[in-house]
Amino acid sequence: MSLFDLDQEDAKARHRKLTKDIERHDELYHGQDNPEISDADYDALRRALIELEDQYPDLQSAQSPTNKVGAKPARGFSKVTHKVPMLSLSNVFNEDEVNEFFERIRRFLNLSKDEPIDIIAEPKIDGLSCAVIYKNGEMVQAATRGDGQVGEDITDNVKTISDIPQKIKGDVPETLEVRGEIYMSREAFLALNSSLEAQGKQPFANPRNAAAGSVRQLNSEITKSRNLSFFGYALGQVSSEPWETQEDVRAALRSWGFPQAEPSALCKNVSDIMENFEALETIRPDLDYEIDGIVYKVNRRDWRERLGFVSRAPRWATAHKFPAEKAVTIINDIEIQVGRTGALTPVARLEPITVGGVVVSNATLHNFDEIERKDIRVTDHVTIQRAGDVIPQVVNVIMDKRQKEAQKMNVPTHCPICKSPAERPEGEVVIRCTGGMNCSAQAVERLKHFVSKNAFDIDGMGQKVIEQFWQEGMIKTPVDIFTLEAQDQKSLTPLRNKEGWGTLSAKNLFAAIDAKRVVPFNRFIYALGIRQVGEATAKRLASVYGDLSTLKTAMARALDPNSEQLTDLLNIDDIGPVVAHDIIVFFNDQRNLDIIEGLEEQLTIEPYTAPNLGDSQFAGKTLVFTGSLEKMTRAEAKAKAEALGAKVSGSVSKKTDHVIVGADAGSKAKKAHELGVNILTEDQWLEMI
Ligand code: IVH
Repeated sequence: MSLFDLDQEDAKARHRKLTKDIERHDELYHGQDNPEISDADYDALRRALIELEDQYPDLQSAQSPTNKVGAKPARGFSKVTHKVPMLSLSNVFNEDEVNEFFERIRRFLNLSKDEPIDIIAEPKIDGLSCAVIYKNGEMVQAATRGDGQVGEDITDNVKTISDIPQKIKGDVPETLEVRGEIYMSREAFLALNSSLEAQGKQPFANPRNAAAGSVRQLNSEITKSRNLSFFGYALGQVSSEPWETQEDVRAALRSWGFPQAEPSALCKNVSDIMENFEALETIRPDLDYEIDGIVYKVNRRDWRERLGFVSRAPRWATAHKFPAEKAVTIINDIEIQVGRTGALTPVARLEPITVGGVVVSNATLHNFDEIERKDIRVTDHVTIQRAGDVIPQVVNVIMDKRQKEAQKMNVPTHCPICKSPAERPEGEVVIRCTGGMNCSAQAVERLKHFVSKNAFDIDGMGQKVIEQFWQEGMIKTPVDIFTLEAQDQKSLTPLRNKEGWGTLSAKNLFAAIDAKRVVPFNRFIYALGIRQVGEATAKRLASVYGDLSTLKTAMARALDPNSEQLTDLLNIDDIGPVVAHDIIVFFNDQRNLDIIEGLEEQLTIEPYTAPNLGDSQFAGKTLVFTGSLEKMTRAEAKAKAEALGAKVSGSVSKKTDHVIVGADAGSKAKKAHELGVNILTEDQWLEMI
């Protein structure tokens, strides 16, 4: 039925329903900071309402969400690209892992066993990180972390937080970016919740959600009334760096008027660290803010620079998390979810329970071995735990409370969705559906992955839309997304006439799809959804192979176990035999190749361009290190070379540009001689960089 066929009564009913839905999602989003649907799906609801009112002007009123001030700009904060990415932190959970953190640093920097490594320990505040930029001491912009690369502009709201100075006096760099955590004190949180409850409104689950909800208000008056606080903990982009240690940074931040997370400590070894950890654990309930652990940062700046980072976390810092919070509840059911790669994952549906301030109703059971090992059955009482943002887990079954009739769960022999046989590949714990692209669950999950944020990121094409299009047979493979408009023009039931859509929303969707017809090679690889190929691996593949046809040819040849192409693939960082196998299988499966070919007809896939790394003579070159280096460790040398845009390989071939030889170099140096590859000593290489 199209909008045009709705009679007045139907239109009224639909208007009521849309209004109610939008108001509910507004409350979930703005009031509780706990949205249930994506922004794109929310926008689609609003668009449907606007179109309905255009069609039936009688339905327009001041009360409609389309007319309400405050709700009108929908979810509008403009985007801000961070000049220096906002990284996340790796975690450690016990003394052994703390020790390993120290040892890794020691190995990387080649420090002797008894050289102290000064670490600054600071409480890890449970709030949301924020970057505030000052020009000549004047606040010009404040942004959320977002995905670490791009955040949201929240300047007006941040200006209402009294802990964050709007003007800094004294000796400040021309450009200064202060990073820290916006949080809500326990006192402010309790006061806010009792006032919300008095107004009959839903209270916040915890101070973190309350802080996040308050910062993302479109009306800064509301933010102001929420009594937020701030701790400064780091510098981002700065025009001059008058500091040598984290202690200097803290002193500078303090002198500019930023409160610091306390109590902090200077620790020199694992026992200092553990002593401080226990002390903080004891006073944790007495602090006026919630902390979920302690952050350890290498004090010396020169060491930090050498240590650099892996993927998205620095090597020079880590977070020591407090043990997870636990609770006991009942398993009402165990469902099996089918993932993008066919993995069958059991999920426990729980009697809802509050753990650490958050209501939990699902827990992952990981795999069927885990169910067997812990002997988990439906109707069991179980202990569950939740640590940070991690999905809650079932720790153990309370056996005393087991019911006599409780049945052991059968390991599935077939996919619950497509009924294809399920199999367990040798050496793996996962059971997989063998239906491949014939399994609708896998196909839909792959499509959802394809359009997701870090892949094609198509505006207005959320999970719900994919499901709807799949059910209606409009999209079966990623190629169909890009031929959707052409198909739609020929269709007897075009999108604009479908439930929840209209002329404008259909037009917007086609425009959003068109906007993504040019795609960087690494995103394209990631979007394909190859098993075990996440963003980091996709980027590495893109940087090594450069473009799609090179990658395809290499993967076809890599099928031969003696090929140079297989050796090259295995030489890529983080790609071991298992991942390599999955990549090769993917690119030798005709069904995948057909989809790729279909996509190539629709898209412009931009070859990978190395990030601009200045004019380093090593950018784009392939280096091999051999023998023992004296001035830096192998790991550091490799990280350094990669930071200059070079690729580091484990074996010498015709394609190697330079071999750097340390003491006692053996066969690789010899091979370099034979092939006429340029050879550098460690000192020559250091001089060149
Ligand atoms: S330093 C390279 N110090 O923890 C990252 N972070 O899981 C430098 N956080 O996004 C961060 N308290 O929002 C640092 N004292 C503290 C912190 C802290 C909380 C948050 C921060 C970061 C997250 C990482």
